[in-house]
Amino acid sequence: MFDLIFGLIGFAWSLLWLALYLLGAYALLAVYAKIFHGNIARMVFHYLNKWVVDRRDPDLNISHINGGLYLRRWYVLPRNGFFNIYLHNFVGDDHPVAHDHPWWSLSYALKGEMIEYQADGDFNFIKEGDWRFRSATYAHYLALLSEDGVKQPAWTLFMTGPRLRRWGFHCPKGWMWWGDYMDVETGVIHGCGELS
Ligand SMILES: [Fe+2]
Repeated sequence: MFDLIFGLIGFAWSLLWLALYLLGAYALLAVYAKIFHGNIARMVFHYLNKWVVDRRDPDLNISHINGGLYLRRWYVLPRNGFFNIYLHNFVGDDHPVAHDHPWWSLSYALKGEMIEYQADGDFNFIKEGDWRFRSATYAHYLALLSEDGVKQPAWTLFMTGPRLRRWGFHCPKGWMWWGDYMDVETGVIHGCGELS
C-alpha cells in the first residue's frame, strides 16, 4: 500500500518537474522571439519562410470557379492519414457558404487578418497569434480584409487530425456533400441548388 502511495507521489513530483522544464523552455523561447522577431507568431513565420516557402513551390494550389487562386498550401510534415501540419497562404476568400471539415483542426494565425463567419452569419476576427480549435462539424467560412479594394493575404499554420467524416456545405435548407456542391474535375460550382 505504501509502495503505491510513494509511487504516486514520485510520479506527481516528476510531472511537476516536467511542467516546470516546459514552462522554462517556453519562457526562453518567448524571450528569444520577443528580442529577435517581436513575438512567437512572427518568429514561426520567419523560420517557415526560410525553411519551407523560400525552398520550394506550394505543394497544392487551390483555385475558385473563376480560376482565381484562393489558397496556397505547403506540407510542413510529409502528408499522412493521422496528423498533418500545413502552412496556408490565403490570397482569396472562402466560397461564402459555411462548410465543415473531414477532420478536427487547430489553426495558428501567423500573419495578416481574416474574418471568420459562422453558419448563422455571426462573425469574429482572426489576428496574428490567435489560435482556433475547430471540431470537424464546426461550420464556417473565411474572408480576407481589403485595403483600397485589394485583398490582403493572410498566413496560418493549420494542423489536422485523421479523416473522420464526409464534409460539406451548410446550405439554407440543409447540409450538402461537397461532391454534390462542386465538381472538382471541371472546377464548376453547382452551389446549393434545391437546398437554396
Ligand atoms: Fe474551413
